[in-house]
Amino acid sequence: MKNTIKNTMKNTQPASFRNLYAFAKKLPIDLSLSENPLGCSPEVALVLKRLTPADFFDYPDPDCKQLKKVISERFQIKAEGIFVANGSEAIIKLLPQVLLRPGDEVIIPSLTFPLFKIASTMSGAKVILSEMTPSLDINLADIQSKISKKTKLIFLCNPNNPTGRVIPRKNILDFVKSTKVHVIVDEANIEFGGETLIRDTSSLANLIVIRTFSKGFGLAGLRVGFCAANQELVQQLQKMGQPFPVSTVAEKAAIAAFADAGFIDKSKKFMQQERNFLSRELSKRGFAVVESEANNLLVVIHTFLPDLVSKLNEKGVSVVDGLSFNLNNVKFIRVSPRLRAINRQFIAIIDQLLKEQG
Ligand SMILES: Cc1ncc(COP(=O)(O)O)c(C=O)c1O
Repeated sequence: MKNTIKNTMKNTQPASFRNLYAFAKKLPIDLSLSENPLGCSPEVALVLKRLTPADFFDYPDPDCKQLKKVISERFQIKAEGIFVANGSEAIIKLLPQVLLRPGDEVIIPSLTFPLFKIASTMSGAKVILSEMTPSLDINLADIQSKISKKTKLIFLCNPNNPTGRVIPRKNILDFVKSTKVHVIVDEANIEFGGETLIRDTSSLANLIVIRTFSKGFGLAGLRVGFCAANQELVQQLQKMGQPFPVSTVAEKAAIAAFADAGFIDKSKKFMQQERNFLSRELSKRGFAVVESEANNLLVVIHTFLPDLVSKLNEKGVSVVDGLSFNLNNVKFIRVSPRLRAINRQFIAIIDQLLKEQG
């Protein structure tokens, strides 16, 4: 896959969260949104069985103290350096509101989670796109070269969505240390690959690490995310965030999921196996697949199958259309591995389409 994609990017993403890819477009054979195919830890079901009426009647703890406690113990950071929200999307939306003023510049990799650009644009900032490397990695040197006096925020995503490519921890640390600009590292998919920088937020005041319970922990429907950052910034986020961002039920489920390291281990191994299966099967059929270390696979579409996404949709398959991202001279789809039976159905439908195409 190396050097096969030319990096020409356009700056045309409309600033609306409703335009986020795959929004409400799930079909019976779904490889679009990257939830954990194994569901969530069985410990969560036990917690749900033990809920009491008060968990529903009473307002939740506005500070999510119990959840912050377990996060702070795990990563050995202060609870005051943790901000919990209604999904990590809420944090991606809030951080630009807190950190940016109209006219400020934000640097974002060209091929990454589209919400970074939408949220920055909504805050009136000017988005500067950074080119990917030829192998579609986030290009830290290019980002560094684009930092100006107006740069107030930089978004990184590790592992990156939609490529599943990982930046080594040391490279990110060196980068963060080389600048005073706030650097957000979105680690939404880190349970599947890569090394977290959460602990480093206590020593690096410009580092913000975002995490979610939606992916590895399998709680996308409950909407819990958090970030680790310097304490002053966390205070500002708390002032501007929702008063009761996370329900009691969601907080309890998140605590149970967080404690089950065995489930995360199992999910990581499962994902590796299914990623390998899909990559191998798609490569056999001549598709170029970017080598991924996480839960997303970027697949370049054959030139003779330009309308692959709509053809897949007609057969009841949903994937993320590459049009949602900024790599506009190459057509690709993003697929998220699911259970083996679904992955097989997907490959069988690809075979049908290839046959129909002759
Ligand atoms: C990189 C990245 N960040 C954030 C999110 C949003 O996650 P959440 O469900 O916590 O809002 C996603 C979901 O697809 C993602 O891929």
